[in-house]
Amino acid sequence: MESPFRADVLKGKVALVTGGGSGIGFEISAQLGRHGAAVAVMGRRRPVLVAAVSALRDQGIRAIGLEGDVRKQEDARRVLEATVEHFGKLDILVNGAAGNFLASPEDLSPNGFRTVIEIDSVGTYTMCHEALKYLKKGGPGKGPSMGGLIINISATLHYTASWYQLHVSAAKAAVDSITRSLALEWGTDYDIRVNGIAPGPIEGTPGMRKLAPEEMKVRTQEYMPLFKLGQKWDIAMAALYLASDAGKFVNGHTVVVDGGLWLSRPRHIPKEEVKELSRVVEGKSRASNVGAPSSKL
Ligand code: COA
Repeated sequence: MESPFRADVLKGKVALVTGGGSGIGFEISAQLGRHGAAVAVMGRRRPVLVAAVSALRDQGIRAIGLEGDVRKQEDARRVLEATVEHFGKLDILVNGAAGNFLASPEDLSPNGFRTVIEIDSVGTYTMCHEALKYLKKGGPGKGPSMGGLIINISATLHYTASWYQLHVSAAKAAVDSITRSLALEWGTDYDIRVNGIAPGPIEGTPGMRKLAPEEMKVRTQEYMPLFKLGQKWDIAMAALYLASDAGKFVNGHTVVVDGGLWLSRPRHIPKEEVKELSRVVEGKSRASNVGAPSSKL
């Protein structure tokens, strides 16, 4: 799909995208690149990185791949250093690396819980912490009043509660909290904007393949009336909005891009019935008010 943004909105910018080798992270990398940014892609799997970088370069994007695990502070430090060494600076950090699987609490070991918290929450924080010196105003390639941007990829699971996702809900709740706290503190002190994006179900992603495999055969629409799949493009456009000047006054916010799905619940009575019911109930309450003493208030 064609982008509504000008092709040069991110000209001269440098981005690092964790989990950028596949899925939503790759599409964000590609769209940041197509709009002028140079992109460093961080991931754990070398073959995935090699394929991603070659696909980005085929589109004329200046891209490098850097192997690393966001759970390891030394990897975070090394990858950030290598990005700045290669491209001269860092303007945008996208924390897209995440871990997920379906498990009921009975089957989720404390180590399973910890693993997802370590990737999503601690990994996000570690990347932010190590990126500060590059992103802050006055950092490499930055003016005295020009800081960078952080985008944390989150979810909507924890707005209510989600079956078999206790670990990810807890992890993403922490991510949203990190987004707000850093927006307050680093926005004030270093002119760094920190925002999030909470995607709904997005087609063709590792997340969908793991969380809603074809084998599941659930008629989702029956219990989630607003259920629709989004595209990776939808998430990348939200990232472009936040990264471009269009989002320059947005700080500390997590943009939900899910077609309204998290609000979804089955209609408990048909529309016609509610009209009738309402007339009956209102009629009854008017009748019961006749002759009632008027209020002295
Ligand atoms: N159900 C229950 N527990 C599970 C599980 C599942 N499907 N998958 C992993 N675990 C548990 C393991 O049993 C282990 O706990 P234990 O030591 O008490 O047995 C713990 O989680 C760590 O598993 P391990 O396979 O060693 O972790 P890893 O670091 O190799 O992989 C994952 C991390 C599990 C999150 C893996 O799915 C991953 O790498 N995911 C990244 C990609 C991804 O999920 N993308 C989708 C994003 S939405």
